[in-house]
Amino acid sequence: MSTQSFEFRLSATDGNARRGTISMPRGEIRTPAFMPVGTGGTVKAMYMDQVRDLGADIILGNTYHLMLRPGAERVARLGGLHHFARWDRPILTDSGGFQVMSLSALRKITEQGVTFQSHIDGSRHEMSPERSIEIQGLLGSDIQMQLDECVRLPASEDEIARAMEMSLRWAERCKTQFGDQPGKAMFGIVQGGDVPRLREQSAKGLADLDLKGYAVGGLAVGEPQQVMLDMLEVTCPLLPAEKPRYLMGVGTPDDILKSVARGIDMFDCVMPTRAGRHGLAFTRHGKINLKNARHAEDHRPLDEESSCPAARDYSRAYLHHLVRSNEILGMMLITWNNLSYYQDLMAGIRGAIEAGDFQAFSAATQAAWEAGDI
Ligand code: GUN
Repeated sequence: MSTQSFEFRLSATDGNARRGTISMPRGEIRTPAFMPVGTGGTVKAMYMDQVRDLGADIILGNTYHLMLRPGAERVARLGGLHHFARWDRPILTDSGGFQVMSLSALRKITEQGVTFQSHIDGSRHEMSPERSIEIQGLLGSDIQMQLDECVRLPASEDEIARAMEMSLRWAERCKTQFGDQPGKAMFGIVQGGDVPRLREQSAKGLADLDLKGYAVGGLAVGEPQQVMLDMLEVTCPLLPAEKPRYLMGVGTPDDILKSVARGIDMFDCVMPTRAGRHGLAFTRHGKINLKNARHAEDHRPLDEESSCPAARDYSRAYLHHLVRSNEILGMMLITWNNLSYYQDLMAGIRGAIEAGDFQAFSAATQAAWEAGDI
C-alpha cells in the first residue's frame, strides 16, 4: 500500500515486543526489521535483487563514506542513491558522526560540528549537523539520522554527559534543517553511555522534540551485553510508543532477540555481511567457521532446509575450498546465506509476536543454536 506520508502502525504486541509497519512513499517496512548495511552504495558481495528477494524492506547507507566517495553532490547529479545503486525501496542513512569517530584521523568535535581527515586520501572535511542533513537529502535518503556524538565505553560520566547534551542540541538543529518533508523522516539518537540518569535525560529531551522516530545509539561499543540490555530497559519506556525505535549497529542474533523483547523495532549491523566475507556462516544450528579444516570433506550443505540456494545447494567442503582459496564466490555465497539467515530470523520474530508466542520462539531459537551439532 503506497502512502505519501511517513506512518508507523503497531499491529501486535507481545510483552514489550512489537510488530509494526512503517509506510512511506517508497514502500513498507515490516518491523521488527533488519537493515542490511550498504555503506558505500552496495551491500557488499550482493546484488540488490538478491537483497530484496531475501525479504529486506530497507537498507542502510553511510553519509561519511558517500560524501567522501563519490561525493553527495555527484550522487545527486547522478539521480540520487536509489537510482545510482538500483534500490528503489526505502534507504536509511547514518549521519556520519559515528563513522568519523571510528574511521577518520585527526578528528575534532566542537559545538559547531566535526572536522576530520578522510581515511581514503587524507583530505580535510567539515560536517555540521546542518551539513549532515543536507548531504542525506542530496543522497535522497528516506530516513535520515541526526548528527550525534557517540562515546566509546568505558568513559567518564562527565564525558558521556557532555556528548549527550551536545547531541541533544544537534538534534534540534537537525530537526530545523530537515524541516517538513511528509514522506521522509529524521530520527533522533539517544545517547548517555552506561549511565541510566543520562539515558533518561536524553530520551526525554528527544521525545520533547516530537521526531518521527528514535534511535538508541552509543551501545555495543565495548560494554557487556547486560549493560546494553539494561540501558534499553531504561530508555524504551521513555520513548513514545507510537514511534519506531532503532537500535544502531546491533547485533548478533542473540542481541536482536533480547532487544526485541525490550521494545526495539529496527536493527542494522555489518555482522552478517562482514562475517560472510571472512568465512563465518550463520545457521539455525549456530555459527560455522568454514575456514576450519574439519569441513574439508563434509558433503553436507549449511542448512538443507533453508530457502536460500547458498545454504542448500553447496557443500561445506566446497565453501571451505572457496574460503581457503580466497575466491570471490565464497564471500558471495556465505554473505547470501548470512543475510538470508538474518531475514528469516526477523520473519520468525514477526510471526511469533503476531501469534503471541515470542518468548517461546526466542527460547526455541536459542536452544537450537546451543544444541547445534555442526
Ligand atoms: N552506529 C552505531 N552506533 C551509533 C551511534 O551511536 N550513532 C550513530 N550515528 N551511528 C551509530
